[in-house]
Amino acid sequence: MRRNRATPSIRTLIRETVLRPEDLIQPLFVKGGEGAPEPVDSMPGVVRHTVSTLAEECRRISDLGIPAIALFPCIEKDRKDARGSHACDAGNVLYASIRAVKAACPGLAVITDVALDPYTDHGHDGLLDERGEVANDLTVEALCRLAVAQAEAGADIVAPSDMMDGRVRAIRQSLDAAGHQRAGILAYSAKFASAYYGPFRDAVKSGTVTAPLDKRGYQMDPANVREALHEVRLDEAEGADMVMVKPAGPYLDIIRAVREETLLPVAAYQVSGEYAQIHAASRLGWLDYEATRDESLLAIKRAGADMILTYFAAEVAASLK
Ligand code: PBG
Repeated sequence: MRRNRATPSIRTLIRETVLRPEDLIQPLFVKGGEGAPEPVDSMPGVVRHTVSTLAEECRRISDLGIPAIALFPCIEKDRKDARGSHACDAGNVLYASIRAVKAACPGLAVITDVALDPYTDHGHDGLLDERGEVANDLTVEALCRLAVAQAEAGADIVAPSDMMDGRVRAIRQSLDAAGHQRAGILAYSAKFASAYYGPFRDAVKSGTVTAPLDKRGYQMDPANVREALHEVRLDEAEGADMVMVKPAGPYLDIIRAVREETLLPVAAYQVSGEYAQIHAASRLGWLDYEATRDESLLAIKRAGADMILTYFAAEVAASLK
């Protein structure tokens, strides 16, 4: 076996998996107001952009060969309420951001998150019923309005991340009825109730590591793989154009199983906690930052992901050039 590993060129010849900038999707946070971007403490190198710095950053990302971004709004506290009513407000920073990005880089695909958590004061992805649980069908109606508003503003792909039942079909029907047949759906199909979302909730201020939100009533149990395949089948039947597994690194077996289950493109989301732990360990001098970063992404692709959402996207694309 060692003859095939003897030199860099022979190793290149036999390499089975190659990461390309085209495989990557850059998640970006945006907030209202003007001025400089604001750093997210628990995610070194990640910022909350304003609309103008976002457009600039998108030009850079597009020039690096990255085909898509995923946009997440960070909403001021006083705009949040129990019903997430700011979600469909025309003055919402998300819609201004989509328009600004499409104007600055028309060729860059814009993916938007369909869920209410940035807008609700309780931080859940949907509307609560009288028992304090997330109400499925009521939430789906709100998600349909949100998805149509996002497509209206210019989103190429809407990505329901809420894990309500039946939302993919309902969103597809609403988009079509509103004339948005071209808008695609990337379904967060196997989204697990994960502790690795902590830093993200800090970034969009929907919760913190010290006050974790319990989303186990709608997000999946990390123990289950058959259930993930069941979710994928349902989303496919309901009209999803692509499916997603999230988180990615701790769920490589799920990515592989989903890859073997469906003919649809499979996305994997290397989430905020995966990003944060690589940064933290390398700051302590316990891991080599670049080597760990690159290996983590290669492993996700090797497991079967066609595309990877990762906060490392731009810097990895730059290092690949
Ligand atoms: C919420 C949403 C979450 C993420 C993306 N969309 C967090 C959650 O479900 O609480 C997490 C992304 C990350 O951790 O990087 N709809």
